Amino acid sequence: MKNSNPSINYEKTPELGNFTVLSGNPDKTSLNLWMMGPSAQASGTADDIGIPEFFNNRTALVTGATGFLGGILVEKLLRSCPGLTRVYLIIRRRNGQTVEARLARILSLPLFSQVSDEQKAKVTALEGDVSEVDAGLSPEDRDRVLREVEIVFHVAAYINFNAGLQRAVRINVRGSWRLLDMAKRMSKIKVFVYTSTAYCNCTQEDVVVEKIYPSRLEPQDVIEYVESQQPEKIAEQQPNILRNHPNAYVFTKLLAENMISANRGDVPVAIVRPAIVMGTLKEPMPGWVDNVNNGITAFVAGAGRGVFRTIHGDGFKVADLVPADGFASLVIAAAWDVAKTGGLKVYHHSSGGDNPITWFDYCRLIMKGVAKYPNTGLVFFPRARLRYSKLRNYIHALFAHYLPAFVLDLVISLMGDKPMLMDIQSRYFKGMQYTSFFTCREWLFDKRNTDDLSSRLSPDDKEKFDFETKHIDWPSYMETCVLGVRRFYHKEPDKNLHVARAIHWL
Ligand SMILES: NC(=O)c1ccc[n+]([C@@H]2O[C@H](COP(=O)([O-])OP(=O)(O)OC[C@H]3O[C@@H](n4cnc5c(N)ncnc54)[C@H](OP(=O)(O)O)[C@@H]3O)[C@@H](O)[C@H]2O)c1
Repeated sequence: MKNSNPSINYEKTPELGNFTVLSGNPDKTSLNLWMMGPSAQASGTADDIGIPEFFNNRTALVTGATGFLGGILVEKLLRSCPGLTRVYLIIRRRNGQTVEARLARILSLPLFSQVSDEQKAKVTALEGDVSEVDAGLSPEDRDRVLREVEIVFHVAAYINFNAGLQRAVRINVRGSWRLLDMAKRMSKIKVFVYTSTAYCNCTQEDVVVEKIYPSRLEPQDVIEYVESQQPEKIAEQQPNILRNHPNAYVFTKLLAENMISANRGDVPVAIVRPAIVMGTLKEPMPGWVDNVNNGITAFVAGAGRGVFRTIHGDGFKVADLVPADGFASLVIAAAWDVAKTGGLKVYHHSSGGDNPITWFDYCRLIMKGVAKYPNTGLVFFPRARLRYSKLRNYIHALFAHYLPAFVLDLVISLMGDKPMLMDIQSRYFKGMQYTSFFTCREWLFDKRNTDDLSSRLSPDDKEKFDFETKHIDWPSYMETCVLGVRRFYHKEPDKNLHVARAIHWL
């Protein structure tokens, strides 16, 4: 098997029969730039046009637009970079829905209420699947993309803390590789922006810096392994392969970073690593969230209805939360930055260093928000607490989650309806088991590239593309997140708030 990057030394490792990283850096540019400091990284930024101007008459491609962050990114591009010529979205056909129908659903969301029809008309859905060759595009669509696209935002990923390795590798590593391969063939490519996660380096014990950390295994070898073995064998070997990575999701995001860094050729690459992304802080409206795939937002949804009443974590550890609109702004600004400088640059989006909030305060402020903006559809009285002891958390879940769910499910089935509370509880409890790795630990993500980028924006761009975290007022932002989940996820109208408050205080 070939080592695609001569600057990394790999060695044989028994479980895969292939290679392990011993030392070296996947892409020397990224580490060298990081070591030289922000001013060196900023050099070469001769033609300093603003961010919206950079996007004038350009065509972008976005993956993952049907998801939480991809949708917010597309909205921000259309609203704040009005000179864009076209935005292509690679969307999967799912549940019998055509990609046109899926696009129409996205554009009709309240999220897009401030985007004009003229801007919306610039969006074209292309049927595809990033895990397939040429992203599964038809030959006509592929040629269009190769001819026209200048900026790629790769946001799509398989995000599941209980992910099987095979699927996670296929979508997150193989898929990212295939998209990068297309980017290398795009005749006008300016930049490839990859959305990673800050936690792909959760095995690091020191401050995590904005460089690529070599993965223990070579991405190509892991791909070949999962593509050549039976699913049962892969599942059996998964713990040996992941070793100290808590799940296949973060492991494959690290492999993807390594793969991109080693194989990007001349394509300028920006890698944005957000920590835990919550609802929008202010743009285009406060609190926007459309799914609760992220366990920390799922807790807000469940706690608000009284379904989740305990969460396992260390209250003294820092919860690294960031708002989704800041993420979209950073991704766009990073594209602008790296398109000018070339090379590969990593940007952390993290609040833990300059404006920390603990898990204790997260839980307390969420419950304060729930008391101010209660839901009508209460299952139990909302009263959730963070518990440090795993055993106490488990016992509490047994009595406060499972027992009432069991009784209510019994009543529901006696009434002839389909019971579901036990199922919700099992899924929550399972999800929380995977989340507690992160709620019981903390990391410090150095973000000098991100801070430097912010300092180089014009006052106008800085206002339009705000990704700083130091000004977040946690009590009001947590309240915004609770209200956002109530409005956009539970779809409770504001006008029933007085009814909800009456029920809540009964
Ligand atoms: N949310 C967070 O807290 C957080 C934190 C750190 C990093 N991130 C990163 O941010 C990115 C977006 O996360 P998110 O929270 O927006 O996730 P999400 O809501 O689950 O969205 C995932 C998106 O990826 C698409 N996708 C998955 N597999 C695909 C495939 N094979 N082909 C094409 N599209 C595919 C999904 O399409 P379908 O609609 O067809 O499923 C969906 O649009 C990910 O790269 C994630 O690693 C997120």
